Amino acid sequence: MEKITAPMIRARKGGEKITMLTAYDFPFAQIMDAAGIDIILVGDSVGNAVLGYPNTLPVTVEEMIHHTGAVTRGARRALVVIDMPFMSYQESIEQARKNAGRMIKESGAETVKIEGGRKMRDVIRAIVDIDIPVMAHIGLTPQSVNAMGGYKVQGKGSAEEMLIEDAKAVEEAGAFSVVLEGIPRGLAKRITEMLSIPTIGIGAGPDCGGQVLVVHDLLGLFGQFRPKFVKTYVHLREEIEKGVKEYIEEVRSGAFPDDAHSFH
Ligand code: KIV
Repeated sequence: MEKITAPMIRARKGGEKITMLTAYDFPFAQIMDAAGIDIILVGDSVGNAVLGYPNTLPVTVEEMIHHTGAVTRGARRALVVIDMPFMSYQESIEQARKNAGRMIKESGAETVKIEGGRKMRDVIRAIVDIDIPVMAHIGLTPQSVNAMGGYKVQGKGSAEEMLIEDAKAVEEAGAFSVVLEGIPRGLAKRITEMLSIPTIGIGAGPDCGGQVLVVHDLLGLFGQFRPKFVKTYVHLREEIEKGVKEYIEEVRSGAFPDDAHSFH
């Protein structure tokens, strides 16, 4: 079983579609790895999906390292990407390099992901220069939720050219791939055809070089708002609730544990 690397993902440009999902713990990483996923992203979406924060902004470097360590212990084949959380790279190039290095050393992940286009060009270049592969992330970048005024589709109308400039900037800075989130499918196609690095879409239509989803959305674990681009493949929330209710009833009625589940 060959470990997937950042150069391998870079070389998939124009080839087989890249599959990426988020995971935040050991069993999910093991299951996805065995199922054959290419990339596991330990997203700062851990904030909303697992930790109960209202958005990704409160997530810390320590929380990212904690969850990513569990994922890297479970992922043997998939490339592991760790998200750099809000304010772990925006202060200065030195801060960005130091945190990227620490997150790789302490989590076991192989690559980092950074939100932002032109504004992050120098930060991406500085991290790539110390041989840490960077996945870029442009379009709807959740760490900018307050500046965007909500989770809104980006790159519409006159903003289209700006997004194209963002895509060119991250490629030129040395990113090995780029996530395109929440942009019109026509624009995602244009960017995908223009760049020499693979694009990985989420809410960016079918023409990207790969796709990513938050696993809690795919599995129907997230009870709240579900964006239009999410496809729920399994409805686990209902299944879990059913199992828990059955357990409660059986304990109360004395049906569990029965003789088969008792020691003699
Ligand atoms: O944090 C995350 O899960 C992400 C994906 C949605 C791309 O950044």
